[in-house]
Amino acid sequence: MATPCRLVLLLLSSLLSVAVGATHPAHEFCAAAGRDAGCGGGGDGTRILIKGGTVVNAHRAEEADVYIEGGVVVAIRPNIPVGADNVRVIDATGKYVMPGGIDPHTHLEMEFMGTVTIDDFFSGHAAALAGGTTMHIDFVIPVNGNLTAGLESYKQKAAKSAMDYGFHMAITKWSDEVAREMEVMVKEHGINSFKFFMAYKGSLMVTDDLLLQGLQKCKSLGALAMVHAENGDAVAEGQKWMIDLGITGPEGHALSRPPILEGEATARAIRLAKFINTPLYVVHVMSIDAMEEIAKAKREGQKVIGEPVVSGLVLDDSWLWDPDFTIASKYVMSPPIREAGHGKALQAALSSGILQLVGTDHCTFNSTQKAFGSDDFRKIPNGVNGIEERMHIIWDSMVETGKISVTDYVRVTSAECAKIFNIYPRKGAILEGSDADIIILNPERSFVMGAHTHHSRSNTNVYEGRKGKGMVEVTISRGRVVWEDGVLNITPGSGRYVRMPPYGYVFDGIEKSDAAYRASLRAPVQRGIAAA
Ligand code: URP
Ligand code: ZN
Ligand code: ZN
Repeated sequence: MATPCRLVLLLLSSLLSVAVGATHPAHEFCAAAGRDAGCGGGGDGTRILIKGGTVVNAHRAEEADVYIEGGVVVAIRPNIPVGADNVRVIDATGKYVMPGGIDPHTHLEMEFMGTVTIDDFFSGHAAALAGGTTMHIDFVIPVNGNLTAGLESYKQKAAKSAMDYGFHMAITKWSDEVAREMEVMVKEHGINSFKFFMAYKGSLMVTDDLLLQGLQKCKSLGALAMVHAENGDAVAEGQKWMIDLGITGPEGHALSRPPILEGEATARAIRLAKFINTPLYVVHVMSIDAMEEIAKAKREGQKVIGEPVVSGLVLDDSWLWDPDFTIASKYVMSPPIREAGHGKALQAALSSGILQLVGTDHCTFNSTQKAFGSDDFRKIPNGVNGIEERMHIIWDSMVETGKISVTDYVRVTSAECAKIFNIYPRKGAILEGSDADIIILNPERSFVMGAHTHHSRSNTNVYEGRKGKGMVEVTISRGRVVWEDGVLNITPGSGRYVRMPPYGYVFDGIEKSDAAYRASLRAPVQRGIAAA
């Protein structure tokens, strides 16, 4: 929950955002291709020199200064002189200077389960920037299956954005028109990934037939297919069993959709992607069952990307049994947060590369919205927070504990996402010419998380009271200091849409393996009819 002072600020910002949205069309949507086509580095000419820190990229860490101008990184080397007068110098001695986080999985202002997520493209961005995340990729939900209408609606929502963002697109229906629209999304709108929900029967869920068509279309476009992997038919059955048993509370959510259903759907999606020979991205891997399927496929050489989310890495399902409905219901998300043991296994998979990058699935509902399901867990809107907490929790639980290195930290929170979605090294790196999306993290400072201090609009937080080490003291978004000393300085409408081109690195080699497959067929066999 926000303090009164911050409430006033948020209110002012919302009012401002309405005004900006109404009068400032230039901020609506940068439809052109990034800085090449007029979106600009985005900087306002501010010059910043970060001195004395350890600059960390996914490939190496070095002692160096970083000079930023016009929203981009201009130089990285030791002892850069201050030069001109109007250079803002930030002392980063003893601190890590790293690329801002990129969250590959969020749902801002999403209409879902009869309500709308409470964080929009302004409050979600405020939360993200305060937590060291400078870009995210949100899921556009089509309107009645129509992709163009869905995109239009999300352009409106994003008019109030305060940081850079990109879009994935969900596919919820299939027709020739949808297939044509997918092509338009890739070629004209910079969307290079499509998500298929294998759960949420009766709303977003797709059939295997649709998934097959979608996988083929994705492959033909060089777009990455993503799946929410749970067996939706079996989940619906499991839900009925729980209700018949009189289990109507939040614990029924976990009991009705056990890990085996996540494992089954993950295996099915992996096999269908193998049949089509196209890369697959499995979102929110929550269980050992799903992770093992990904590990097996990777061992066999298949191009499968697994994304754990912060909640799955560090929480366990015991909260769902809490006697207080408000507490228990805030942990309801799908696939469910699992029994203790799954999280540690997912952490190990992340540190060994079986799982590749960390998202949040930030999809927040306040306690009033969660109470829609107070008499039936099936009506509790599914989703948890995380966009503000991800960078701190991963640092504390993975780097502080020695499970991953600082360079791996950058890889799993930023660089890998930029590579997979084909925007590296503009994003996900501190290199000359990269966007100046940078955080300064002090490894000696501690944090405590909770709804009283977070920037989300929700009045609850699944990480309530969580303490840890490592604090993002400064966030720089495209060359502007937007978070410093606990103060946000952000402008609605300043965010920029980031187009993501198709044929990312995960498509490398697909043509060759297709050719090898065709060559292996020994068919069609030329037959004659033997003489009698
Ligand atoms: O519970 C969740 N995960 N809510 C968001 C929608 C989704 O499945 O990603
Ligand atoms: Zn999902
Ligand atoms: Zn999601």
